[in-house]
Amino acid sequence: MRGWVRALALIAVLAAPSAGAETPWVWDLPAWVPRPRVPADNPMTVEKVALGRQLFYDKQLSLNGKGACASCHIQAKAFTDGRKVGVGVTGEKHVRNSMGLANVAYVPVLTWANPLLHSLEQQALVPMFGENPVELGLAGQEEALFARLKADPRYPALFQAAFPAEGGTISLRSITQALAAFERSIVSFSSPYDRYRYGNEPNAISAAAKRGEALFFSERLECFHCHGGITFSNAVTHERLAFVEAGFHQTGLYNLDGKGAYPANNPGAIEVTGEAQDMGRFRTPSLRNVAVTAPYMHDGSIATLDAAIDHYAAGGRAKSAQTDQLIVGFKLNKSERADLIAFLRSLTDQRLLTTPAYGPPK
Ligand code: HEC
Ligand code: HEC
Repeated sequence: MRGWVRALALIAVLAAPSAGAETPWVWDLPAWVPRPRVPADNPMTVEKVALGRQLFYDKQLSLNGKGACASCHIQAKAFTDGRKVGVGVTGEKHVRNSMGLANVAYVPVLTWANPLLHSLEQQALVPMFGENPVELGLAGQEEALFARLKADPRYPALFQAAFPAEGGTISLRSITQALAAFERSIVSFSSPYDRYRYGNEPNAISAAAKRGEALFFSERLECFHCHGGITFSNAVTHERLAFVEAGFHQTGLYNLDGKGAYPANNPGAIEVTGEAQDMGRFRTPSLRNVAVTAPYMHDGSIATLDAAIDHYAAGGRAKSAQTDQLIVGFKLNKSERADLIAFLRSLTDQRLLTTPAYGPPK
């Protein structure tokens, strides 16, 4: 019987055009971390991640050779870029701040203000082909891009290894699937806070950070309601969650008309949904690695963690009736403020920032 099964399996393998050449990707996750959900039509493989990494760092993915995904998503800054807003290869400014990519596989709604964008494969098309603003500037350049990659001695073999069933085709589908696979490989659960909370290392963080943790998770500050869970964001999904959480909130950053209006060129989820209640609502960002992702907020309008705390302490720097009920305002004395910042700093994961696996390929 067993021999039969094996023989059938062998026939199946020989018959499949992919010939079983791909190696399934296995995340190196701590036991307490659930695995992310992966789209059925783009399973994770070692070969796809390797190709995606090559593409992510390759300036050939731009109109003029001046930028790559990695220009605005820098590993040492937890895949943000340190600028107020992203700047594309033609110098055009984005209206929004470049987002970190750590644990993006766990994010069910992508970008700051688009509740309808769910797939990393689709998202990759925006920086490549978007014209408002121009990021990589590839609109109308598809064929030229494919030709460049075909002519590059590295790529045909990489595409063949990653997409054997499709004969290694270089297409928008294979490019975006590989980019998405690389992005899904980028995880961050090895901060000192994780070692303290889950790793039986009671001294991995300072006494100040422990006091800051208590403040963060208190009903006095309310931070954890929106920045809770494994990614410190209530926009999260994974294989152990029955329901996707997609947190969008108006946190009182603008009140241009006394009724909570945000700037017309950057109004939040309302731009996509057209619903009045979505004015000023942006997706809750993860606070993992927040100490290295300044400046903050969807438009980079808050320069430091200290200033972010000022904003929340005031109950929103420009609060209005639209501001979320959980933005309550509070008073912190000097040492409590230092404690809260020490806690936020304990969420920085040096492995994420330095592991060669997420850096430029050699
Ligand atoms: C010019 C700078 C720039 C470039 C180049 C760029 N990005 Fe981004 N990225 C941004 C900005 C700005 C945002 C926020 C966009 C928004 O909210 O509309 C973002 C958001 C994202 C997100 C959403 C993350 C989340 O948590 O929702 C992903 C994923 C992403 N970028 C991947 C990529 C990939 C892949 C590439 C290359 C194909 C790329 N980016 C190129 C600036 C850039
Ligand atoms: C009602 C939900 C909510 C609560 C409560 C909340 N936040 Fe936020 N937080 C958000 C959202 C949404 C954003 C993005 C807002 C924007 O850019 O318009 C954000 C942004 C941030 C940022 C900037 C992160 C980045 O990458 O730009 C920091 C830091 C932050 N919050 C810390 C805190 C702290 C500390 C508390 C508690 C004092 C707190 N938050 C309470 C929802 C919340």
